[in-house]
Amino acid sequence: MLPIVAIGLVAAHGAVASLHSNNLAYLSPSRRHPTLAVPASHLAIRAADELYTPDELEFTHGVASGDPLADSVIIWTRLAPSLNNTASDTVPEGVVPIYDHPEADQPSEKSACVEFRIASDEKLTDIVDKGTAYTTSDVDYTIKFEAAGLKSFTTYYYQFNVCNSAKTSIVGRTKTVPSKDAKVEKNIKLAVYSCSNYPEGYFNAYGNPVSKDSVDYVLHLGDYIYEYKGDSSIRNPEPDRETYDLYDYRKRIATYRTDQDLLASHQKFPWIPVWDDHEVADNSWREGSVDSDGEVFAKRKQAAVRAYFEWMPIRQVEMDDSLRIWRSFSLGTLADLMMLDTRQYSRDLTVLGGFAGIGGNSAEVEKLVNLDNRTIMGFNQEAWFYDQLSQSSNRGAAWRLVGQQVVFSHMTFGFFTTEGFNRDQWDGYLANRRRVFSHLYDNQINNTIIMSGDSHASWVSDLAWVTGDEGDRPYDKNTGDGAIGVELAGSAVSSTSPIGNVLPNLLTNLASAWLVNKNDELQWQDLYFRGYYEMDIGYDSLTATFFGIPDVKTRNTKEDIIATFVVINGENKLARNPTVGGGTAKSGSLKNGKVST
Ligand SMILES: *[C@@H]1O[C@H](CO)[C@@H](O)[C@H](O)[C@H]1NC(C)=O
Ligand SMILES: *[C@@H]1O[C@H](CO)[C@@H](O)[C@H](O)[C@H]1NC(C)=O
Ligand SMILES: *[C@@H]1O[C@H](CO)[C@@H](O)[C@H](O)[C@H]1NC(C)=O
Repeated sequence: MLPIVAIGLVAAHGAVASLHSNNLAYLSPSRRHPTLAVPASHLAIRAADELYTPDELEFTHGVASGDPLADSVIIWTRLAPSLNNTASDTVPEGVVPIYDHPEADQPSEKSACVEFRIASDEKLTDIVDKGTAYTTSDVDYTIKFEAAGLKSFTTYYYQFNVCNSAKTSIVGRTKTVPSKDAKVEKNIKLAVYSCSNYPEGYFNAYGNPVSKDSVDYVLHLGDYIYEYKGDSSIRNPEPDRETYDLYDYRKRIATYRTDQDLLASHQKFPWIPVWDDHEVADNSWREGSVDSDGEVFAKRKQAAVRAYFEWMPIRQVEMDDSLRIWRSFSLGTLADLMMLDTRQYSRDLTVLGGFAGIGGNSAEVEKLVNLDNRTIMGFNQEAWFYDQLSQSSNRGAAWRLVGQQVVFSHMTFGFFTTEGFNRDQWDGYLANRRRVFSHLYDNQINNTIIMSGDSHASWVSDLAWVTGDEGDRPYDKNTGDGAIGVELAGSAVSSTSPIGNVLPNLLTNLASAWLVNKNDELQWQDLYFRGYYEMDIGYDSLTATFFGIPDVKTRNTKEDIIATFVVINGENKLARNPTVGGGTAKSGSLKNGKVST
């Protein structure tokens, strides 16, 4: 019955209703799933609303852009009726909030009208596209447009304004990607991040590429926010509790988006993010997390996903495939970029407590890790991923870049066994990893670079099938012969080191040396520094530069190059020049190399 009512109202207010529909935030992320978007019927009712005046409105959280294609890009802003609060508790019909939100902006019947312009010059005179849309409390006053008709691999500037008014947002900068069949004339540069924990420190890692103006695009591999209640002497996010419902997740992201360096990165670079666990809850998998399951987890995930899509400048992919965020980008003939979801989409049960079979559910997980039907990403996504790798190789793109959440390579402490120590990583999903390796080796797919986050430490490995289970292939840890690619796993923006941020570099380097010694394919490891890495990608070779951020307790610009790696096209391993990493690193431990702090 609802659709008929909706059609009637849309007809009555056709032109106006489309001004709401122009705002992609109302799809957050899918109108076909009633709890995940604003129902069309509700929008039609909104169409009769009155508008806020320009005086009542503010652009509260800067601007952002993301998911660039060759001819379009998503641009984002938030235009809200008050500066003193930043989240709306308007929730979909039938969804009951878990908490009362007396502090929230009250649901309002009014709409805010916003226009955008995108131009090839910074003064915004040479306008290429423009548009108008409404936003309301239903989507926390967020606004997402797809700016279209753009030229490939070109820099653009964009700005929003309140309709028919001189009240404007700041100007954002963005960039399209090269068109799929084009030879890319300049190297492409990326900054790769994961694990930005607001109470644990300032996001200095985001700010440095802004001041250096050193990259084209930003990748984020997840843990963009954390759901925990803040308990820090540095700074604490709102709300002052663990996040469970829509208001909570909106407010949490809104707090993160007050970090000046994060705002600057969003303003200057197009982002291509995926989520990990903490965008929803700790160690989440398909049906639960460490501290939630069943109906509570299902509602929590709906709320988290909806807020994420409202606030992030990304596209909705295939909306019938519930919660799908995995997607790919072609960067000319230089590379294909595949962004996976090994966390929320369809991951089988993970470790929710305990370690190595002792405590929590870890004994139960130990029994599952080697099942043939076990998957970290769901069989739909697996099929898509293998197909993407093959298509990319068949079309002759020079590189396959795979952005995903958790460390892929086998990692053991090697104390009593060679078992993997972290079953929440690919070491807990052995058959899925075997299927990835066998797809790469059997089809001779070359030049694959897996990029990983989640671990708050750096792990650089030859991608080698020396997993200690089935199917291992010959591999020489000194020459790298036998590998099929490279894994670059980066440290955290600010989340604490797995060994606590308390040990001096000298001691963490000893722990790194132990790990590098026990794991053949692991060529460099560091536990000390927060940071990120930049990739400089050309046809002949690719360089990854790892930056260490020494201090996140204050906002500052300190950073140091702690290791650099080259991968030569066709070699499928880290370049030895003369040994991996050029033979020296400034922290951690480098196989066959020196570390001088
Ligand atoms: C926001 O500001 C208005 C006007 O100053 C005030 O009436 C209102 O109580 C404030 N809201 C919150 C949540 O502080
Ligand atoms: C996976 O395989 C195991 C062992 O054969 C079986 O018990 C289990 O039901 C299977 N799981 C699924 C989801 O098919
Ligand atoms: C990968 O490299 C190997 C060794 O150079 C080559 O034999 C093979 O054909 C390459 N694979 C593809 C798909 O081009």
